[in-house]
Amino acid sequence: MQYCCCRGLWNTDNNMRKLLIAANWKMYKTPNESTAFLTSFFPLVKQSTQAEILLCPAMTSLPALVDAARSRSVFVGAQNMHWKNEGAFTGETSPVMLTALGVTHVLIGHSERRQYFAETDTTVNLKLKAALAHSLIPIVCVGEKLEEREANLTNNVLELQVSIALERIDPAIAAPIVFAYEPVWAIGTGRTATPEIAQEAHKIIRNQIAQSLTPALAASTRILYGGSVKPDNAKSLCCLEDIDGALVGGASLEPKSFAEIVHNAIAGQS
Ligand code: 13P
Repeated sequence: MQYCCCRGLWNTDNNMRKLLIAANWKMYKTPNESTAFLTSFFPLVKQSTQAEILLCPAMTSLPALVDAARSRSVFVGAQNMHWKNEGAFTGETSPVMLTALGVTHVLIGHSERRQYFAETDTTVNLKLKAALAHSLIPIVCVGEKLEEREANLTNNVLELQVSIALERIDPAIAAPIVFAYEPVWAIGTGRTATPEIAQEAHKIIRNQIAQSLTPALAASTRILYGGSVKPDNAKSLCCLEDIDGALVGGASLEPKSFAEIVHNAIAGQS
């Protein structure tokens, strides 16, 4: 199969999947730095209406960034949340607290949460249900580790992560769900998945969504790619049939580089 900028010819279903380019700032930027980013960044992308743009700052920057983004067509999301509305969970943030701030999206099950904070597919499922119950748009992160890829386990890992995440989710309320394929070996390493690897993994995820939910939902669910996305590879990734955007770490911290990613991803889709 050839990998080129012809996604529109491959799949008419993807017309309903608007490009989503999301920044995951991880544990970087104070509130002032976050709003200063938006001041520089927004003029660079305000004409880029073909893509939805999402910024996920640290929890402490959410109030200031939600406020600053109000008059601009940029969404603001959290990087994590607890699944309960309230309770004795020191250090945690609930979906109720996020929606009260005006946050619209939430990342769920990022590999760094799985690796350093013991998150599991089961907690991902609980968080996904909570996000849907509170009308937060969930971005569920899945992806295999290097040793799993090398042991030919990528399919099994992805199918298991997606199927457990979607366990007992009513298809009637599942339309907002977004997935992000983030191969662990590509995160922060400068080693990006090749277009062939990324497309294949996205297809596996989409097929599992069809099994777990419905074929129609599989066709309309956005699946983002994450892992060393940069201005110079955004186009070749976002032109692929099953890639509907990007979740960007390091290269989203600078306004110019993140804006270039937005522009190049749009170019990939046209
Ligand atoms: P990098 O873009 O820095 O590889 O990070 C990817 C990521 O973890 C986004 O959630």
